[in-house]
Amino acid sequence: MKKRILIIGACGQIGTELTAQLRKLYEPRKVIASDIREGDDDMMQGGPFEILDATNYDAIQDVVIRHEITDVYLMAAMLSATAEKFPMRGWELNMTSLFNVLNLAKDKKIEKIFWPSSIAVFGPSTPKVNTPQRTIMEPSTVYGISKQTGERWCEYFFERYGVDVRSIRYPGLISYKTLPGGGTTDYAVDIYHKAIKHKKYISFLNAETTLPMMFMDDAIRATIGIMEASISDIKIRSSYNLAAMSFNPVELAASIKEHIPEFEIGFEEDFRQAIADTWPQSIDDSEARKDWGWKPEFDLEETSRIMISNLKDE
Ligand code: SER
Repeated sequence: MKKRILIIGACGQIGTELTAQLRKLYEPRKVIASDIREGDDDMMQGGPFEILDATNYDAIQDVVIRHEITDVYLMAAMLSATAEKFPMRGWELNMTSLFNVLNLAKDKKIEKIFWPSSIAVFGPSTPKVNTPQRTIMEPSTVYGISKQTGERWCEYFFERYGVDVRSIRYPGLISYKTLPGGGTTDYAVDIYHKAIKHKKYISFLNAETTLPMMFMDDAIRATIGIMEASISDIKIRSSYNLAAMSFNPVELAASIKEHIPEFEIGFEEDFRQAIADTWPQSIDDSEARKDWGWKPEFDLEETSRIMISNLKDE
């Protein structure tokens, strides 16, 4: 098979597990990982690795040509909380990296792109419950604005130039292998680490903050699933709604207590509360289910069981 994959941002929360899974599914030498800095031993020894700045078009083009890349997964981004602190840097990274890969595909140097969008594309005026695929979208964060703009550009490059770009609006992602960095949903990972270490967690989101979430294995399966779907099944070229579960910090704490009865949660809101307040509580993902067969496998109970048993062994 001539498929050769490049992952940009391979050392991040999603990139780490995506790279491992792609190296399992395809020949590892045909899966090229890249990031701005080196990764851990598994990352560096499991297959080819390139140091790559996602904002540098020439550098990406060089890697693409040298490795005869066909498919690019662009996982480099600045997430919601960090981008509020560095708005211009967030915008620059999120948009320039996307234009780099869209233009490479337009010039026929690559065949297929995966680009992640997010529930952050929605804003305070969006219906919060069972948020539809197509609805009011007035994002109020730098990250959300970059993702919504990105969605428009993805659709534009598909319509105008026939670029095969595929995208998912990820909910908050929960994983034990790599920590998230700079997101508003990061509490849902940190809480497990603190529950095991200190039996206590102070949440920066308040008790009522219900957000859509997903266990990482589901997110990876969706990502590879949409990329492997036949081209005629991909009807939406902006980005697909995707869902698995929704919960608030109290419900998450209750599911942790099933395993660690002494666990206690406290609350101290910070600036991330205002970001979370603009996002949906739950997502209608019926288009993804219908078009390319998406179906989640992990609920909160199962997620907590896996998170706690794996983090305990560390
Ligand atoms: N999980 C991301 C964040 O919190 C949203 O895509 O920024």
